[in-house]
Amino acid sequence: MSGYGRECADIVRAARPGSYRIGMILGSGLGSLADEVEDAVRIPYSHLTEFPISSVTSHSSELVAGTLAGVPVVILSGRAHYYEGGDPTVMRTPVETLRELGCEILLATNAAGSLREDVAPGNPMLISDHINWSGKNPLIGEEDEKRFLDMSSAYDPDLRAAMTKIAEATGAAVPEGVYMWFSGPSFETPAEIRMAKALGADAVGMSTVPEVIIARFLGMRVAAMSIITNYGAGLQAHALSHDETKSVALKGMDRMKQLVRAFVKEIGND
Ligand code: HPA
Repeated sequence: MSGYGRECADIVRAARPGSYRIGMILGSGLGSLADEVEDAVRIPYSHLTEFPISSVTSHSSELVAGTLAGVPVVILSGRAHYYEGGDPTVMRTPVETLRELGCEILLATNAAGSLREDVAPGNPMLISDHINWSGKNPLIGEEDEKRFLDMSSAYDPDLRAAMTKIAEATGAAVPEGVYMWFSGPSFETPAEIRMAKALGADAVGMSTVPEVIIARFLGMRVAAMSIITNYGAGLQAHALSHDETKSVALKGMDRMKQLVRAFVKEIGND
């Protein structure tokens, strides 16, 4: 089982020849990071075979190839989610495309709800590990023996250390935490949030985990960062909403952009 990564990579290379170092996936409200890319070529997902168009407002659905801080990067501005069609492999072709274009590193971003009082909305959280609560896996149906994928260091320790150092050098430490994947699209209940906390999660969200599994399967090194947009259900006085997710993500963008640019500069020039 494989997607159309090779075919899509050919389309990207025809528009902008070259090899790329770092691939990024931008989550809700984080799309403006793609505006930072220089010498950029933008390709709508509709021009890329089997690229899923997200139905989520705030996801722009275009691939941006160019340079960031002098490093060749490919940015997927917008992702499709499991909850949009019930397919855990929905991001297989996009991640394969990054790999085919030469990206050895995936930096995934998302919006997430915090379960920790000391990790407040508007702030980034570096993902150290995940809990796959959905029960779904993008490698189901995969026949290659590699499907028995080791996930012990899925979030690359060296990349995490680099990001931590960058965060400290640029103002404020970024906390690390465990991200728990719920299928969505409804938000969690307060009881589910209490369970998530008891099971060792620091944040909850509806994405990223399938992409990380696919990227690891393809041999990529992974770093992932959440922007915390709210406290989990029952931990804040007001109701959760996608409007809040989008608006708080926007407020945290400047710090996120600063961290991502510095990370790309450091890692991409290794
Ligand atoms: N739960 C799930 N996904 C989210 C949340 C949340 O609280 N906030 C942003 N994305």
